Amino acid sequence: MLPAAAGRPARPPCRGAVSCTSVADPTRGAGARDDGADLAAAPPERHLLPLTAQTGPNGHLRVGGLDLLSLAEEHGTPLFVYDEAHLRARCREAVAAWGDGVAYATKAFLCRAMAALAHEEGMCLDVATGGELAVALAARVPAERLVMHGNNKSEAELTAALEAGVGRIVVDSFDEIARLGRLTDAPSSGPRPKVQVRVTPGVEVHTHEFVRTGQEDSKFGFSVASGAATEAVAALELLPGVELVGVHAHIGSQVFDIGHFEEAAEVLAAFFAPLALDELVVGGGLGVAYVNGEESPSESAWAAASREACAKLGVPASTRITAEPGRAIVATAGITLYRVGTVKELPGIRTYVAVDGGMSDNPRPVLYGSGYEAFLPREVGAPRPLRARVVGKHCESGDVVVAEARLPADLVVGDVLATPVTGAYGYSMASNYNKVPRPPVLFVADGRARVVVRGETTEDLLRLDG
Ligand code: LLP
Repeated sequence: MLPAAAGRPARPPCRGAVSCTSVADPTRGAGARDDGADLAAAPPERHLLPLTAQTGPNGHLRVGGLDLLSLAEEHGTPLFVYDEAHLRARCREAVAAWGDGVAYATKAFLCRAMAALAHEEGMCLDVATGGELAVALAARVPAERLVMHGNNKSEAELTAALEAGVGRIVVDSFDEIARLGRLTDAPSSGPRPKVQVRVTPGVEVHTHEFVRTGQEDSKFGFSVASGAATEAVAALELLPGVELVGVHAHIGSQVFDIGHFEEAAEVLAAFFAPLALDELVVGGGLGVAYVNGEESPSESAWAAASREACAKLGVPASTRITAEPGRAIVATAGITLYRVGTVKELPGIRTYVAVDGGMSDNPRPVLYGSGYEAFLPREVGAPRPLRARVVGKHCESGDVVVAEARLPADLVVGDVLATPVTGAYGYSMASNYNKVPRPPVLFVADGRARVVVRGETTEDLLRLDG
């Protein structure tokens, strides 16, 4: 049986680092909880697993009707497995919460299958580079469903976006306004490209500093407080070749406190209301639970809080208020499977469990000190008394997968080890460090698996080698 999350008193939501269990979190090692329960040693909570996760008759974890151990056997490890039903459910939830125009932030995870899925489920797609734009177009997502982002869009990227006819371009700097002016100079008989202006509301959220974006000291957008945002609006209104339709802001990522979104919405609404524009986008950033004891706010709570704050400040009800979730759509849908290669016990120090991937398939622990759970899919409900550090196979000590992992006592070399909630910013930030090939990515549904990104081969590693 899968462990149940229900009925367990939750630890208050994380308001600190990217995850509550950052490496620096002193409570993590002890697995301490306010009520004394050893939550850390308990199996991973149900809400950290994909929607269709179930225990099979042999005790193995199944996702999309498929045994994870069989998938590891067939496709090798490391392996990214995404629950397609979970992805679809999250997209539908976002559309239900925000309405038409809500965009999936593709930077969280993108391949053709993912782009097509988000589009099929009614989402627009946020693309932030020419590369993301090209993948979305290759997936046959209609250009008008794409939102082009980027704080330093090159002339080539802007040209590609304009030629494709993307639905919105989110303008980020005065240099970009000048660039857009030049590129849209020639008279055209078609509709003018629609643009939104990205502003920084001056709200500092309690998340990792690398993923905070709404504060005054930011490379993104135009500051509301300094008057730059007002100047940008005026400059865009003077550009004959574009149509300014809205305002955009994104305050940061892995935000657990709805209060931060409310605060940002208030600043945005006050700036937006007098402009008489049609669209307001509050960005992405909804936090996701990564480890036992974390609870994340829902998409609908975030939407309701943002709408309420806007209404209070006089934003007309007809305004299209939408968002751009990335992590909340894909994070929990994904699980990474590794194989344990060595177990090294250092008496009086710690136990190292080394797996066949690491910082090349998940750089988040190294970058942000992010915490994850680890478990053995052969018995997901097993207690985890063993304290160990799960590490990768890369040539540096920072190559940590789970800094303070709890694992079943009978773990052995050759076991498949899984880390849940790795669907966002894992594969998308993967690298070939140490010439480790990037793993394949599977979508599983209804007892079938499809390879949506194939695993790299040695040939791929040499493909660009001159
Ligand atoms: N919109 C904009 C303009 C963004 O910059 C981002 C994320 C999003 C939407 C989506 O945010 P989300 O809902 O996924 O939080 N690599 C980091 C996260 C970087 C987020 C960058 N921007 C991590 O692994 O935590």
